[in-house]
Amino acid sequence: MLTLRVRSTTFEAEGILSFELVDPAGAELPAFEPGAHIDVHVPGGLTRRYSLCDPPWQRYHYRIAVLDVPGGRGGSRAMHEHVHAGDLIEVSEPRNFFPLASESGHAVLLAGGIGITPILAMMEQLKRLDHSFELHYCTQTPERTAFAGRMGQDTAAGRAHLHHDGGDWRKGLDMASLLREYRPGTHLYFCGPAGFMKAVKDASGHWPPDTVHFEYFGADPDVPTRAMPASGCDVVLKRSGNTIHVDPSQSILQAVRDAGVACESSCEAGMCGTCKVRYLSGSPEHTDFVLSDEERREFVLICCARVAEGPLVLDL
Ligand code: FES
Repeated sequence: MLTLRVRSTTFEAEGILSFELVDPAGAELPAFEPGAHIDVHVPGGLTRRYSLCDPPWQRYHYRIAVLDVPGGRGGSRAMHEHVHAGDLIEVSEPRNFFPLASESGHAVLLAGGIGITPILAMMEQLKRLDHSFELHYCTQTPERTAFAGRMGQDTAAGRAHLHHDGGDWRKGLDMASLLREYRPGTHLYFCGPAGFMKAVKDASGHWPPDTVHFEYFGADPDVPTRAMPASGCDVVLKRSGNTIHVDPSQSILQAVRDAGVACESSCEAGMCGTCKVRYLSGSPEHTDFVLSDEERREFVLICCARVAEGPLVLDL
C-alpha cells in the first residue's frame, strides 16, 4: 500500500477530473506498464480501480482520471467531492491485467469515454517506440472528451481519430467496417462502457482470440447475475471429496480458501484468469470477462462465478 499526496486536480472534460498523485517526500514511485491500474481507497471506505494514464516512463507521479457517474455506486462522486489538492490518499501498487501483448505489428486502440485512460498510456508507449498504431476515441461530444489535447499531433498525423456520437454509439464509429478485415500481426485493444464493449466484441468476433485485448471498468451491468439462494450453495472438491458450503456473502474462492485449500488469485473481479479451475460436473454461472465460450465448458473462474446448477464439482 502507498500513501500518496494529491499534488493537483485538473478539469479534463465535462464530468471528468484528473488527479496527479506523488510521493509526499518526492521519491520515485513503483514502475508500471501501459494498461496498469491502481486501487484507490476512496473517502467513505470504498475501493475503486483507476487506470494510470500518463506515460509509464514518468516515475515521479501517477495520473488517474475519474468520471463522475450520475447514479453510480458512490466512488466517483466521493473522488470529485472529497479529494482535493494537498490531501493524502492510500493506493495499491500498480497492477496490470491489460498489457500490450506485442511491440511489433500494428495496434488498433479503441476507447469509449473514460476508457481512454489505459489506452492513453498505451498510445504514449507505442509512440515512444515508433510502433505502428491507430487510435479511435469515441465520446458523446467534444465537451465530454478528456485529453483531446494530448493527441493533437496524432490527430493531425491521421493516426488518432475522434468520434462524437451524441450519446448513441451506433451513430458514431462504424465498428463493423473498421474491424471487418483482420490483418495478420495486428492486435486490438479496447476499453469503454458496456454498450461500447459489446459493439467492439461483436465486430471483432472473427479475429484470432489472442490478438484481442480488452478491459472492463468493472462488473458489466448488462450481464444479469442470478441471486444466490439465501441458504448459499455447495461445491465439491474432487481430490478430497469434501463438500464446501458457500455462503451468499462469499465467493467460491473465499469459501474454498476458508476450507484450507490454497488457490491463486489476483484481480478477484473476473478480469485476469488467475483463479481458473477445471470443473467436472454441475453448471457454473460465469460472470467473468476472460473465458471464451469453449473454455467455459471446462473451466470456471471461482473468484466471481456462482453455481447455476449443483453440485458443482471442482478439480481441486
Ligand atoms: S482472480 Fe482474476 S479472474 Fe479470478
